[in-house]
Amino acid sequence: MISDNAVSGAKTQVLDSIEAVRVWRHNAMKSGERVGFVPTMGALHEGHLTLMRQARAECDRVVASIFVNPLQFGPKEDFGRYPRTFESDLQMMSQAGVDAVFFPSEQEMYPDGRESVTRVVPNPELADCLEGHFRPGFFTGVATVVAKLFNIILPEAAFFGEKDYQQLQVVSRLARDLNLPIQIVPVKTVRELDGLAMSSRNVYLGEEQRLLAPLLYKTLTSVKDAAQSGKLSLQEALERGRNELMVMPGLELQYLEARNGDTFLAVTDFELPTVFLVAAKLKEVRLIDNIVAR
Ligand code: PAJ
Repeated sequence: MISDNAVSGAKTQVLDSIEAVRVWRHNAMKSGERVGFVPTMGALHEGHLTLMRQARAECDRVVASIFVNPLQFGPKEDFGRYPRTFESDLQMMSQAGVDAVFFPSEQEMYPDGRESVTRVVPNPELADCLEGHFRPGFFTGVATVVAKLFNIILPEAAFFGEKDYQQLQVVSRLARDLNLPIQIVPVKTVRELDGLAMSSRNVYLGEEQRLLAPLLYKTLTSVKDAAQSGKLSLQEALERGRNELMVMPGLELQYLEARNGDTFLAVTDFELPTVFLVAAKLKEVRLIDNIVAR
């Protein structure tokens, strides 16, 4: 079934409070409709829109959220300067056929203060390594806000990008461990023509860093190809990739690792699926990317 919005190109309705979400659900929804949810922090690009279009194709109603969640930013991170572009986001969502967007204030999400909020602690095996190692508390912040958003929106399905592969693993495990009746739907990474994974943070890149940035995907691809073809062992391929990136001036490699693509456990030899994950800083801008051999 296609909703009125998808047919008429109607505007996305802005829901700025939890009460407004409740009223919207009550008034707008016919019984038995499948609600698809796309949580975001805004500054939307083609990656986000692909999630929304997929939700549009698979669900009767599509709700997105835009909330720059302070709980998942470290004290030295970019919470204050994270791009906020609500008006153009709204236009893009209307074109993508999003029925409604939940756009709460911090007060609405953390009325008793963010510091005192009950936290959802994700599985440490998934959440303490890689991103969790370099950004302590990050996945607790993500799991907490995602659990809150799920309870507010009450979707049947929620769409997450493979761009943030570890986040996708953490959220899938959260839904499973807490028996949330929500299907977590993975969506493939959307890239620029030169291979750079789309990200709201790409706007921070200076001219020089922007030219360097596609090297992450290039290296991931060559590491994956070498390991998958058997030309190099997994460890040799990773070592070669690390060396390639470490000698690049202006690029500070944080990790280049491989995990099992399903379990996210460490792997010693190449197996299917294997996911290769990278994080690096280009000046002050931190970028992550990954590629999956399936
Ligand atoms: P944000 O970075 O805005 O991303 C929102 C969703 O878009 C995530 O599921 C992310 O993986 C997906 N996404 C981003 N770039 C993508 C790309 N190039 N291709 C495909 N999907 C892409 O991730 C967050 O926000 C937050 O942590 C959130 C889940 C909203 C919790 O605060």
